[in-house]
Amino acid sequence: MTIRQFLDQDKELVRIDAPVSSQLEAAGILAALDGKPVLLTNVDGGWRVLSGLCASRERIARCLGVSSTDLLLVLAQAMDTPAPPPLVPSAPCQEVVMEPPDLRELPILKHLEGDGGPYITAGVAIIEDPEYGRNACFHRLMVIGPREMVARVVEGRGTHTAWSRTRADLPIAIAIGAPLSVLLAAAMSPPKGVDELAIAHTISPIELVPCRTVPLAVPAQAEIVIEGRLTHRLAPEGPFIDLTETWDIVRDQPVLEVDCITHRRDAIYHAVLPGKSEHKTLMGLPREPGILRAVAQVCEVLDAKLTQGGMSWLHAVVKIRKRHPEDGPRAIRAAMEGHPSLKMVIVVDEDIDIQDWRQVEWAVATRVQAGRDVYIYTGLPSSSLDPSARQVPGQRATSDKVGVDATIPWPAEASEEAIAAVKQRFRRVSYPKVNLSQYLKPTP
Ligand SMILES: Cc1cc2nc3c(=O)[nH]c(=O)nc-3n(C[C@H](O)[C@H](O)[C@H](O)COP(=O)(O)O)c2cc1C
Repeated sequence: MTIRQFLDQDKELVRIDAPVSSQLEAAGILAALDGKPVLLTNVDGGWRVLSGLCASRERIARCLGVSSTDLLLVLAQAMDTPAPPPLVPSAPCQEVVMEPPDLRELPILKHLEGDGGPYITAGVAIIEDPEYGRNACFHRLMVIGPREMVARVVEGRGTHTAWSRTRADLPIAIAIGAPLSVLLAAAMSPPKGVDELAIAHTISPIELVPCRTVPLAVPAQAEIVIEGRLTHRLAPEGPFIDLTETWDIVRDQPVLEVDCITHRRDAIYHAVLPGKSEHKTLMGLPREPGILRAVAQVCEVLDAKLTQGGMSWLHAVVKIRKRHPEDGPRAIRAAMEGHPSLKMVIVVDEDIDIQDWRQVEWAVATRVQAGRDVYIYTGLPSSSLDPSARQVPGQRATSDKVGVDATIPWPAEASEEAIAAVKQRFRRVSYPKVNLSQYLKPTP
């Protein structure tokens, strides 16, 4: 689904026609309406700015025409069966060529007074790695001049791998207002060599069009495309409020030089508000299939969820069908490998609804003995977004982590009957079902 199709269909869309500035004012409005899709129709004298399209998994599921419960499965299957999108000779995203290219013409939001500058937050960066092929990944981009931005390129990402192994400038294209399937796929981290745009095409079909100045192809239905080069010149990037709603530190990061900007007629600029619902959903949801897939290697996994309180990034709950006493700790370690940013993993049995935090906490309260079921790991690779992580410039951040095995404990050598008896002791009881209308008579 393209973001235009979304605008046509979404009944919850909040439309604001009053004139709005992209500098601080737009961010304030979007924050006040957090969770809702919002279209600002008159930003900086006429631009349309859309935000919140991906704020909830229910809306994403609806846009893709699947149920919320099937969403994870659809994403996981797409990850396993990527299909390259077709190339078309011309496309809407190139209807207008900005001459000369000037980033100041775009309604790029400055979010907070303390930010290092205006930031592109919904830009999907497409690059070609000489060994691994095409990679698509979000990078926040801080504007520092009419044709220059600093890109936050996290160590280990596809973009970083390609950039750090080439001495020349790395050709790059940034798609803003890309179709929903591209947004979801670009937030996934499949194994190196798997093309995120092919995953996107499997989630929901897309087309690509060749860029004008770089040897790359971009989603044809994107709204705005910035073509350029990721240079080896470094400049300070930040301060910036990221996912954790805390200030991320200032780092020296690569400068992106812009050679060409194209866009649709009446282009819609997509802005993801840092730290708010759309950012959290867009980062967290596409990581869950990777966690599922990793845990499936070691035991029978039924569901996985990054929790909202953990910023949809640092904490996960994994539901398994336990068949071996060691399945809990195995699932913990696999989940941390599937999503190395995790700092806490809780593993529960199949009787727990992992969408309900109270049920998860109930499992921890009734099934865990800290000395036996809590696992602590020190100095593992983690998220640079965690303000408590240990950060060394140019290296991956590290953190200490905790895994909680909240599955029903049963001994290794027990018989089937003994295990069944143990499980019985840990089940939540249910009272007999009654039909209340038989008892609550309307008062005459
Ligand atoms: C809204 C949003 C913003 C993001 N910003 C950045 C960023 O600034 N830098 C970065 O390296 N990754 C960022 N990411 C994460 C990557 O897009 C994501 O982790 C991706 O899976 C990396 O894929 P790769 O490892 O194949 O390159 C962001 C993700 C989202 C959804």
